[in-house]
Order: sequence, then C-alpha cells, then structure tokens
Amino acid sequence: MVCRLTSSKDHTPKDLPVHVAIIMDGNGRWAKERLLPRLEGHRQGAKSVRRAVEFCRSNGIKFLTLYAFSTENWERPEPEVSGLMKLLSQFIDSELEEIHRNDIRFKVIGQLQRLPKFVRQKIQTALDKTIKNKTMTLSVALSYGGRQEIISAALKIHKKLVLGDLKEEDVNGSVFSSLLDTGGMPDPDLLIRTGGELRISNFMLWQAAYAELYFTDLLWPSFDEDAFWKAIEAYRSRQRRFGKISEQILPPA
Ligand code: IPE
Ligand code: IPE
Ligand code: MG
Repeated sequence: MVCRLTSSKDHTPKDLPVHVAIIMDGNGRWAKERLLPRLEGHRQGAKSVRRAVEFCRSNGIKFLTLYAFSTENWERPEPEVSGLMKLLSQFIDSELEEIHRNDIRFKVIGQLQRLPKFVRQKIQTALDKTIKNKTMTLSVALSYGGRQEIISAALKIHKKLVLGDLKEEDVNGSVFSSLLDTGGMPDPDLLIRTGGELRISNFMLWQAAYAELYFTDLLWPSFDEDAFWKAIEAYRSRQRRFGKISEQILPPA
C-alpha cells in the first residue's frame, strides 16, 4: 500500500494536480496475457475507469480526462471498434446515476459526429443530465485527435477573422485554447500513460505543453488506487518551472 502524503495539519493532500489526463493503454495486452479476447481487456478497462473516477472524486482532483478512443483507433478491425462502441454505451448506462449522484459533470471531447447514433444519444443524455454538476468534471476523449482538434480551432479563428469578429492582434494562446474541445477547462497538470509506451499518440498536443508526464508499464486494467498514488507522488516530487529558474519558484506552502 502506498502511503498518502498528507499535510500534517489538516490531513488534506497538498499540491494535487487540478487536472489529470490519462492515456488508458494496454487493454489488449492485458487480455492477451490471459489468453482472453481483446474485448475482455476493454471490459476490465472499464472497471479501472470507475476506480480512477472514484479516486479523483474522493481526493479532490477536479478534472479527469480519459483517452478512450483515438481518431486513429477507427482503423482497428471492425469487431473491436463496434465492441468498444457497445461497451461505451453500456458504461454510460451503468455509471450515469452514480456519476450524477456524485455531482460529477460528464463531458466528451473529439469528433462526436463520427460516433454511431446510439452512442451519440447516450452521450447527449449524460451531458444534459450532469450539466449543472460542479464537484468534478469527467471528460472522455472519443474519436479524439489532437491534430484534428488544432486544425478545427485554427479554422474557427480563420472564420472569426474573416467575419471581423476577431482582430489579428487579439489572437493569442488563451483565445486559441478557448476554441479547442477543452475550452473552459484548465490544461492538464499531470499526463499519465499506462501500458509502457513512451509516446502521446495524438493526445492533447496543445494542452499538454507544460503537463508533467508520467509513464507506467502497468496495463490499464491493472492500474489501481496504489498505482494512481504513485503517479501523484511522482508529480508532487517535480518542480514545475514553466521556463523560469528554480530560485523564482516558491516552495510549496
Ligand atoms: C487501449 O488499449 C484502449 C484503446 C485504444 C481503445 P489497447 O487496445 O490499445 O491495448 P494494447 O495497446 O493493444 O495492449
Ligand atoms: C492510444 O492508444 C489511444 C488510446 C488509449 C485511446 P493506442 O494503443 O491507440 O496507441 P498507439 O497505437 O500504441 O500509439
Ligand atoms: Mg494500445
């Protein structure tokens, strides 16, 4: 069991990331190691999702973004793609009440128009139901690609410039951020990737500019509370300088 690092005064964890983003990789290998079909790995992965959401909710992490399906994942064999779509819809069915009860807002980022209609309908129900929830935001990246998201924000800027709704001298990083799917959300502080690969696979290319990166060999279905704490401890041990020098950074209170 990994010890929770708490402040001695109030037992509240200090220096927690506000926004954690996770590339949930390794479901297929988890299944293969057990001679199970890949979809069984995704099914087990859904249990890790539940654990990760509960971890963030109970520890006061306000934003959790989960990479569930990339624009590139459409190229997988059709039975896996359709199996994943069904799992997604089942996940919303089984978790929505609990998510709502816990005052969690559900969001999605990505090219939703590419998703099958039955999934889009489930998503819409979840978005509508949880729209006023405030304790935490759970974003699921679905049919998501960072490059596509950047192109689409660039086109929105172009349109605003042409229409005269925006002046060229007013185009800056925060305007650009606000036009991404994640508009209104803070950038991720901690980006975790399970499954051992050392890449970001088209995830949050803009938003992760200053995220602390954490990679673990654990396969996503095996990523539990202790593993999450290890990632948080690693995050807490880093000094985030944002381009400045150490001496300019105040030690945490
Ligand atoms: C991640 O697990 C889930 C999705 C990309 C949908 P994978 O399915 O990529 O698992 P591995 O990498 O093949 O083990
Ligand atoms: C990244 O995993 C996408 C998700 C976890 C949804 P992939 O398994 O698709 O990534 P690559 O192909 O190994 O880069
Ligand atoms: Mg993978």
